[in-house]
Amino acid sequence: MALGDPAKPVHVLFVGAGAVGCFYASRLHHPSHNIYTSLTARSNYSVIATSGVTLQTHTFGNYTFHPHAVFPSVSAATLSSAAGSSETQAPKDGWDYIVVTTKALPDRSDESSLIAPLVSPKTCIVLIQNGVGVEGPYRQRFPHHPIVSAVTIVSAEQTQPGTIRQNRWTRMSLGPYGTGLTGNGSNPTKEVEEVLRRGDECMKALTHWWTTHGGIRDVEPHTEIELQTIRWHKLCINAAFNPSSVMSGGRGNADQLSDPELREHILGIMHEIWDAAPKVLGAPLPEGLATPEKIVKSTERNTGAKPSMLLDWEAGRPMELEVILGNPVRIARRLGVEMPRLQSLYALLRSMQRVREERGEKGKL
Ligand SMILES: NC(=O)c1ccc[n+]([C@@H]2O[C@H](COP(=O)([O-])OP(=O)(O)OC[C@H]3O[C@@H](n4cnc5c(N)ncnc54)[C@H](OP(=O)(O)O)[C@@H]3O)[C@@H](O)[C@H]2O)c1
Repeated sequence: MALGDPAKPVHVLFVGAGAVGCFYASRLHHPSHNIYTSLTARSNYSVIATSGVTLQTHTFGNYTFHPHAVFPSVSAATLSSAAGSSETQAPKDGWDYIVVTTKALPDRSDESSLIAPLVSPKTCIVLIQNGVGVEGPYRQRFPHHPIVSAVTIVSAEQTQPGTIRQNRWTRMSLGPYGTGLTGNGSNPTKEVEEVLRRGDECMKALTHWWTTHGGIRDVEPHTEIELQTIRWHKLCINAAFNPSSVMSGGRGNADQLSDPELREHILGIMHEIWDAAPKVLGAPLPEGLATPEKIVKSTERNTGAKPSMLLDWEAGRPMELEVILGNPVRIARRLGVEMPRLQSLYALLRSMQRVREERGEKGKL
């Protein structure tokens, strides 16, 4: 399914009604253009079902988003889809798009298996999550479905159940996903070419809707290899600042840079990723990408912000360790590239998390 017939309704289900999910869902829901966006919520279900989502946004002002339908769980959405009744407002012939906006925690749960009962032959799967390697389990489970991989730099948070604050930025980069690297000179099979073609159509449709109807000016379509390059480039920020914010005793990004030893450590991680990425991607990094030094310079100005991994650690929630540290280390290692700085952070943080959970401790450091 992609643009299809403009007279035919398009049904989109977001799985994960947190900061990113609610913000982007609210910009996609346009019944006047036949686009209906629904949510599966969890802890915030009753608030959203009763009052909708309250959005306080830097870019679009304050508004309330009433999704087409809201489900208390993925299994409730599955049951409703099976019933296909007008009462539940689930589409009778399946979801056109399923957009996964949960935290990517493959060590805790396999969302590809969770959404499986919702996926129909026409469904396009969209992943808006941080890290690298997030698409692998979906491609394995759904070899013939279009997948759109997405990276956002939005800064948003859920300040109370059902209330989302977008602090700044809206940019989202999208790319079709085949097996990860098409475009670096490798030859895709006919099957991969076909899922990429369908993924590309879906990506273009989403880009059009988010831009034209949703008013987001910087939703950007890419090729598969470009999008994977963006994922690895964003890792320079996420894998450097996020884990180090926890291990340095709870310091924000700019604060870490004010300490000369930590600054050297942050730059060391960034350069490790910068050097490994072309070998992993099989293509040089494009000219014009912000270098580690440039990233550090712009981060110095962004004082006060706490990285999401630190917020998760402080709240006793699991951290996105696998997609930000474990996957890059494993992916690079398979290609004979070692990333010792990342590996150390991974081993230490994973252990910190495990020890704390075994002791039943929660909360601050
Ligand atoms: N927030 C940002 O500014 C930002 C920026 C760039 C990238 N990202 C990335 O975007 C992704 C989403 O982040 P986020 O900040 O939106 O996270 P979030 O606010 O924690 O939202 C995740 C949501 O998923 C829900 N969820 C998890 N498992 C579920 C399940 N099995 N069924 C139904 N709902 C489920 C959670 O529900 P509960 O409340 O019940 O746990 C929560 O509402 C992450 O990969 C993050 O790194 C975030």
